[in-house]
Amino acid sequence: MKFFIDTANMEEIKEAYALGVVAGVTTNPSLVAKEKNVSFPDRLREITDLVPGSVSAEVIALDAEGMIKEGKELAAIAPNITIKVPMTPDGLKAVSAFSKEGIKTNVTLIFSANQALLAARAGATYVSPFLGRLDDIGHNGLDLISTIAEIFAIHDIDTEIIAASIRHPQHVTDAALRGAHIATVPYKVIQQLFNHPLTDKGIEAFLADWNKRG
Ligand code: E4P
Repeated sequence: MKFFIDTANMEEIKEAYALGVVAGVTTNPSLVAKEKNVSFPDRLREITDLVPGSVSAEVIALDAEGMIKEGKELAAIAPNITIKVPMTPDGLKAVSAFSKEGIKTNVTLIFSANQALLAARAGATYVSPFLGRLDDIGHNGLDLISTIAEIFAIHDIDTEIIAASIRHPQHVTDAALRGAHIATVPYKVIQQLFNHPLTDKGIEAFLADWNKRG
């Protein structure tokens, strides 16, 4: 399983990218809205200048025609832009049009296996099931990842599964075990992944021993 970072914040992207573990970036309108004094296209240029992997940029229009127009403008910003489209009938019409033009897509707000299958058949490059938001309403987000992974394997579908709406490190481990190809992870959770008290204790003990040497 690969890691994407789930943010539109440049400092977070720079820090995470420097770690050498981040293969791509996902943004959404809520994440972009947190960023002040920068236009969306300018932020996408900054991100794609740094990160060569997939950078998801979400369309705002809700009709297929509007999504296609917006998506083409976003895709023109850099070759590694992936157009993020919501899971609706119009969204899938747009995905189908993008797919025919070789524009990569990420179908977002996936909450059922049937939605994932539809998106894949429309030509989606990625589907994004939202783990945390399912957990929030008492459903099992991880079971959804397993089901989608199983269906895609049975039917030889090459659409990749991005585990999204990740809330904590255990989601990351479990998404990897359940067959997600990618987890898109907030910066705070990426930092948490590094932590283990025995690592800190071990470093302290090694340094203490080193400093005691004769
Ligand atoms: C990423 O593609 C999603 O937009 C994001 O992970 C949603 O996360 P949230 O449920 O924490 O808003």
